[in-house]
Amino acid sequence: MATVEIKKNIYWVGAVDWNVRDFHGYATPAGSTYNAYLVVDKKSVLFDTVKKPFASELVRNIRQVIDPERIDYIVINHVEPDHASALPEIVEVVKPEKIICSSQGKKGLLAHFHREDWPYEVVKTGDEIGIGERTLRFVETRMVHWPDSMFTYIPEDRLLISQDGFGQHWATSERFDDEVDQSELLYQSARYYANILLPYSPVVQRLLAEVSAMGLEIDMIAPDHGIIWRSNPEKILAAWDEWSRQVTKNKALVVYDTMWHSTEMMARAVADGLQAEGVGAKVMDLAAFHRSDIITELLDSKAILLGSSTLNNNMLPRMADLLCYMKGLRPAPKLAAAFGSYGWGGEAVKLINAAFEEMKFEIVDPGLRVNYVPAEEDLAKCTELGKATARRIIESRQ
Ligand code: FEO
Repeated sequence: MATVEIKKNIYWVGAVDWNVRDFHGYATPAGSTYNAYLVVDKKSVLFDTVKKPFASELVRNIRQVIDPERIDYIVINHVEPDHASALPEIVEVVKPEKIICSSQGKKGLLAHFHREDWPYEVVKTGDEIGIGERTLRFVETRMVHWPDSMFTYIPEDRLLISQDGFGQHWATSERFDDEVDQSELLYQSARYYANILLPYSPVVQRLLAEVSAMGLEIDMIAPDHGIIWRSNPEKILAAWDEWSRQVTKNKALVVYDTMWHSTEMMARAVADGLQAEGVGAKVMDLAAFHRSDIITELLDSKAILLGSSTLNNNMLPRMADLLCYMKGLRPAPKLAAAFGSYGWGGEAVKLINAAFEEMKFEIVDPGLRVNYVPAEEDLAKCTELGKATARRIIESRQ
């Protein structure tokens, strides 16, 4: 991919990964990008690197602008291997005077690469380094996404280089927000937030307040993944504010896995009840939707109803997988209910309820169990469960 000058003498030199389909359990059907940025000044600076297989592409891209040996500093805003695993090869080529990182960044780099001999320079929030016409100002952003994470702000360019912050896993040949479909951009941004940042939402809230209090004038946000926000950076700041407050809509998810279609019949009847009371219901079969799709929809849903048949005294494996993933992402409490068919044991509903309690969800009904195949009166009870949940959604404040 050709380099792109994003501001005068500041270049995108990263790599587009059209093929990546998984980030530690988060499905990325649209691929991703590993954005690295090169600032050419009296001291030239590279911001982050790329995933290791793209190291030579990064070097080629840098060569389109300057000889890599002219780079003086490498700033590591984030140590995770999608940004730093190419670092050993880049250090060999660049021979940097400094590798600038947070204190946790230094710990992380040592734990990954075991190179005590690299020229680390540790910075903290508020520290500044002049590089000629420009100043690098650092803002530590612990847990957005890892303890080592930080932003770099360049006041002379009003540019925020934000590592994982405000990114998307979306491979495109376009580099800027005004060049792509807006609804897809927002969807990919929400999907990324839900599947990566959701557990750190309180930290994101504090960070947004801190950035606002600093009074940084920002006219471009350059994240390490996806599209660069140059036309409307306020849009993604506002979206992150909304997502980190976990603002919900009058919307419910009905998610199920089914053995012989009985639990599926129940799910459809539950959705009928929600819709009858005017609440939008999204019905998602775990055989058709990935856990990442469910979490994306959960972000702005007020309620979730989970259905599973009982298999071997347990819930079905795909439902267990979803609940394991969901617990780790620590969503804000939702209204919740469980349902499912069974032959003899019938434990699935009880186990789903236990997971709801662990996540501090508000259980609106003890749950519906149907022996083998639902009769009309069973389906009517499912519809009534949907209606009762819808009424609770409408009554709830947020
Ligand atoms: Fe894109 Fe947390 O790494």
